[in-house]
Amino acid sequence: MNSYATEPRMKPPETAPMPQIAAAVESDDQTQPTMIEVEKLDFYYGKSQALHDVSIKIPANKVTAFIGPSGCGKSTLLRCFNRMNDLVDVARIGNGQIRIHGVDIHHSDVDVIALRRQVGMVFQKSNPFPKSIYENITYGLQIQGITDRKILDEVVEKSLRGAALWDEVKDRLHTSGLGLSGGQQQRLCIARAIAVEPSIILMDEPCSALDPIATSKVEELIQQLKGKFTIVIVTHNMQQAGRCSDQTAFFYLGKLIEFAKTEKIFTNPAQKQTEDYITGRFG
Ligand SMILES: Nc1ncnc2c1ncn2[C@@H]1O[C@H](COP(=O)(O)OP(=O)(O)OP(=O)(O)O)[C@@H](O)[C@H]1O
Ligand SMILES: [Mg+2]
Repeated sequence: MNSYATEPRMKPPETAPMPQIAAAVESDDQTQPTMIEVEKLDFYYGKSQALHDVSIKIPANKVTAFIGPSGCGKSTLLRCFNRMNDLVDVARIGNGQIRIHGVDIHHSDVDVIALRRQVGMVFQKSNPFPKSIYENITYGLQIQGITDRKILDEVVEKSLRGAALWDEVKDRLHTSGLGLSGGQQQRLCIARAIAVEPSIILMDEPCSALDPIATSKVEELIQQLKGKFTIVIVTHNMQQAGRCSDQTAFFYLGKLIEFAKTEKIFTNPAQKQTEDYITGRFG
């Protein structure tokens, strides 16, 4: 726990109760502890505000989908969780806090590299390194200084099995990752993400470039992974959100409008804007 904190250990998480804010902070499924807690987050690119007063509690070991029209801030919020936005010059948080495992991820004791190991990411366009399948998986471990061949072999097999790719590539581990099909490349990226054993996997439209067969493989994989990882997936595909997520957050114009069990969002949303969006009236 809290393994992305450098020594000295970080202060214990705040114990103050969350203030009562928007109705949609918590999904109505509270069977799991909170993994990611966003409190009153305002986020800016330069002077332009991309997220407004967003508060959300994302439970551990579930799949949470982010939906909403283009430009509503889904990717921005996702990239806040592993501080990828630190890499964008004009990006800044105006207000608010993000806690993972109860730890403020912007606290000065937090090691960003360690945070990103805990919070892995899979992008819209699969992006294997121009290296062998084997090296794609072992890259993160080698950066950590792990060179023992036996350990690396084990992690490669375990990660590729975990990503439902082992049987397809076990005889060509030392050939280029770029030689795989698009769907295989995306599963390779998922294998690479899970190889360093993160707690959280962020997926930003992971299937948007895949055909239906590859998409269903990745969706099956998401179902298998959720017991071990907390998954947050951005998708424009309503059916996909319905098939693979436990709860869904609907965003509009940088605001979290509604967060509830996926079934409820798609059958009986509380907010008119949510209903308009899922029924295709806008967006
Ligand atoms: N690097 C950036 N610099 C400036 N503005 C940005 C940057 N990235 C995103 N934005 C703006 O922030 C807002 C939210 O963008 P974001 O990419 O988070 O939306 P999104 O919901 O993921 O959209 P999409 O569904 O199209 O991927 C948009 O108005 C976008 O133009
Ligand atoms: Mg996006």
